Amino acid sequence: MKKAKIIGTGSYVPEKVLTNADLEKIVDTNDEWIVSRTGMKERRIAADDEFTSDMGLKAAQSAIESAGIEKTEIDCILVATLSPDHVFPSTACIIQRELGLEGIPCLDLQAACSGYLYALAQSKAFVESGMYKNILVIASEKLSAITDYEDRNTCVLFGDGAAACIISQEGAGYVIDAITLGSDGCQAKLLHMPAGGVRSPASTETVKNREHFIHMNGKEVFKHAVRRMESASEEALLKAGLSKEKVSWLVPHQANIRIIETLAKRFCVPMERVFMTIHKYGNTSASSVGIALDELEKEKTPKVGDHLLLTAFGAGLTWGAAVLTKELA
Ligand code: UT7
Repeated sequence: MKKAKIIGTGSYVPEKVLTNADLEKIVDTNDEWIVSRTGMKERRIAADDEFTSDMGLKAAQSAIESAGIEKTEIDCILVATLSPDHVFPSTACIIQRELGLEGIPCLDLQAACSGYLYALAQSKAFVESGMYKNILVIASEKLSAITDYEDRNTCVLFGDGAAACIISQEGAGYVIDAITLGSDGCQAKLLHMPAGGVRSPASTETVKNREHFIHMNGKEVFKHAVRRMESASEEALLKAGLSKEKVSWLVPHQANIRIIETLAKRFCVPMERVFMTIHKYGNTSASSVGIALDELEKEKTPKVGDHLLLTAFGAGLTWGAAVLTKELA
């Protein structure tokens, strides 16, 4: 059986830049703290009238172009996001409308920052089972809409952006050799949005208590992030039959440079082989690994035979890792 491949990638970030100096004017923080504790210098912020579906659409159009397929060849659209345009209908359906692809199945998938990897796994299964031929995977986040710019613990971390790819069995690209996923709902409260769901519908009280924003216990999340991404990556490499030394590029979730450096050390990947966007985009949740993969492909052009290790971690808690190998058609 031929394995599923990523045959084209795309990404999009909004124009507006929010720098550490800008944040210094909003909350009690400073550039030195943000850079040394997170590695972040800037992040992108969507325009008031630019939404998750708009950014996802732009990333999707560039992934379709890069795959060299007609959009009418797409059989299914999956959108990973925790900041959808609406609770329903899905952002995938809105993007489908904009692409003019009426009729094909579309759904949103919510696995927080691990969403891109969850969507890759889902598409791999769809394609390899023969259910669909070409899947459009999108990750898009407008985190600025759910970030509390009065909370210095979180507002320095997040940014907006989108990534997309086409998964197929035919064509040149990155073979998805192995994926491993996991989650732990017992830790759900470490990183969550307290209100807005049916447990706590929007009310004057929830708005007053700032419960429609991201709440995070950063220190605890940090510990889980390192442990889970490390074990998921080990498992994915084992499944792919590869040793750590064979990793050509590490493409990690862009949440914190200290987490990334720890992972790089544990997998013996020199920092020049770790692809980072954290300094310019901050943490874009589900989009983070996808944007990094697209920029890696465009800026460094990995060679045929190179092995990429992707790993992510986020609310849920959820985590995942994938091993990709660049191949000719
Ligand atoms: O994408 C989903 C997964 N997310 C993650 O993986 C994030 C994981 N966590 C982290 O990256 C880090 O925990 C943070 C970057 C969020 C925080 O770094 P930390 O080293 O864990 O800092 P902390 O929360 O323990 O705070 C240390 C100090 C505190 O002051 P006191 O209590 O020691 O006086 C904070 O109030 O730093 C203070 N602090 C800040 N100071 C200046 C917190 N945020 C800021 C800030 N500017 N923006």
